Amino acid sequence: MLRRSFVVAIDGPAGSGKGTIGKALAKHFGWKFLDTGLLYRAVAQKIISFQGSWCEDEAIRVAMNLSESELDHPDLRTPEVSKLASKVAAIQEVREALLDWQRDFVFDCDGAVLDGRDIASVVVPDAEVKLFLTASPEKRAERRHRELVAQGKTVELNHVLDELILRDQRDITRLSSPLVKTKDAIKIDTTTKSIQESLAVAINMVEKRLKGS
Ligand code: DC
Repeated sequence: MLRRSFVVAIDGPAGSGKGTIGKALAKHFGWKFLDTGLLYRAVAQKIISFQGSWCEDEAIRVAMNLSESELDHPDLRTPEVSKLASKVAAIQEVREALLDWQRDFVFDCDGAVLDGRDIASVVVPDAEVKLFLTASPEKRAERRHRELVAQGKTVELNHVLDELILRDQRDITRLSSPLVKTKDAIKIDTTTKSIQESLAVAINMVEKRLKGS
């Protein structure tokens, strides 16, 4: 029988630092890392590539047939994909189609770090460590804006903030697996912390759990 690995679930809103901290945490311990937002982004990107209006059935079909190579598409972080990803992520059947993939990821390895919105609440509810990362909307928008500028995009910071607030709203209020901090998750507010400071807190939490305290 396949053995489930030690799992660190990281949830939080866009721009809270989940991806950066999750990746660094996995690297620190020599574990695997999965950015589950890429699954929803890949579904959105594929729909956009069809260049027409889309419907829920189409999104479900795309999610059911998604292949791993599609997670490497270079356009997964465009504002257009971000917007549609949060819409397709609200469709229950899309989420169900992507669930096995995420759950299979945590088997037969020493450790796995997954970041998303529903990792602790739905994907791996018995994860060994649950972290909930957060930061002020202004700080998160600033980080996203910096990323977009680095990609050569011209976009107003205020526009990024407005889009981010809209996406937060959709992710938090949707009926299907909304973004939520589970009671047993440890909150890390990254607003005024450097990446190294946030990472140190996360490493400390994992080490404590590994030592059994
Ligand atoms: O983390 P991200 O910004 O790359 O996620 C893209 C979208 O996918 C975002 O609107 C929330 C959604 N998402 C989700 O609903 N559940 C997850 N586990 C991961 C992402």
